[in-house]
Amino acid sequence: MVTAAGAGGPTKESGADNYLSIENLSKEFDGFLALDSASLSVRKGEIFALLGGSGSGKSTLLRCLAGFEKPSSGRIRLDGQSIEQLPPYERPINMMFQSYALFPHMTVEQNVAFGLKQDTLSRDAIRKRVGEMLELVQLRKLAKRKPDQLSGGQQQRVALARSLAKGPKLLLLDEPMGALDRKLRSQMQLELVNIIETSGVTCVMVTHDQEEAMTMATRIALMDQGWIQQIGTPDEIYEQPTSRFAAEFIGSVNMIEGVVETDAPGFITIRSTMLPTLIHVGHGISGFGGQEVAFALRPEKVRISKQEPDQPYNKAKGIIEDIAYFGSHSVFHVRSPNGFKLLVNFTNQQRWASEGFTWNDEVWMFWKNDDGVVLTV
Ligand SMILES: Nc1ncnc2c1ncn2[C@@H]1O[C@H](COP(=O)(O)OP(=O)(O)OP(=O)(O)O)[C@@H](O)[C@H]1O
Ligand SMILES: [Mg+2]
Repeated sequence: MVTAAGAGGPTKESGADNYLSIENLSKEFDGFLALDSASLSVRKGEIFALLGGSGSGKSTLLRCLAGFEKPSSGRIRLDGQSIEQLPPYERPINMMFQSYALFPHMTVEQNVAFGLKQDTLSRDAIRKRVGEMLELVQLRKLAKRKPDQLSGGQQQRVALARSLAKGPKLLLLDEPMGALDRKLRSQMQLELVNIIETSGVTCVMVTHDQEEAMTMATRIALMDQGWIQQIGTPDEIYEQPTSRFAAEFIGSVNMIEGVVETDAPGFITIRSTMLPTLIHVGHGISGFGGQEVAFALRPEKVRISKQEPDQPYNKAKGIIEDIAYFGSHSVFHVRSPNGFKLLVNFTNQQRWASEGFTWNDEVWMFWKNDDGVVLTV
């Protein structure tokens, strides 16, 4: 089951588990609640992602952490210190902007040194620290170049080195891959994770890209309209969504609506007009008697066969209407006699070794009792 980390009561002290703790944080703009009682805690050294659609409040939350936005109410504690009253420059936090904001007239090493020069460090100390940072992001060889002589990925690494140079307790990234093209993105995601983990800094990042959040973050807060809908590891959010919103936001899903018919201890059945079969769910679930529910079934959990499977439950006949080829996998659209289309994923390895399905084939769809999640509507 997913635990909403940090959603519990106020924390008195900062431990490893609540190095950063945000309690009931709200932000109102002229009567509009952009952030509504957000609570979460972030562990030391964690990469924590705020994921949500446009306007869900991700940047607002990040800007409250940085101090660029003053929360209407709520508390923020970092490493045991209350920070919501501090101006941005007094917070031990650094924010890397989407545009990187590098100084075009300065070299790579001057850009990295910039923040350090405002401290009272000696020239030698600055040179040493800049060297360490360039080593960390593997840009020592390009130290004398200017930003416009660098690729997008290299510019991003300079910005990251500059953000980490002062050794902040918290690194904030708003859409860190926003300026990069698709191919470079996936490469930089892993590079960024490596650099952040090596530096040991605690990181909160904002993204609207679910794959990016899943690849980079140890945990994700899924946001919708200023609300935190769910907090969990990527696989918890994917496998155990606690709401329809969460199930539909991440990946694709078959959402089968119905009414709970049998409600036995640890076992329920759902009758749906979308399928000709009673849905059996049996993984320690109960207490849904008579309720309208949505059964969320991921396409990769459904299997198809031309032969009737010998399992007693969760099988229904259908016709293959569409096959979408995605290279690594294919998605079958299988229409049930009730007219509802189920999505079925096949890895292409499976596909070629399989029975050779094609359009208009009549097939059996089937899944196990513990596949899928029951959600209240
Ligand atoms: N300064 C402001 N004044 C008024 N409304 C604002 C202000 N800043 C943000 N908002 C509103 O608050 C809501 C949340 O905005 P926010 O920038 O946090 O969204 P987001 O999740 O970062 O979206 P995106 O993915 O598009 O960047 C939006 O509806 C936005 O219009
Ligand atoms: Mg934003």
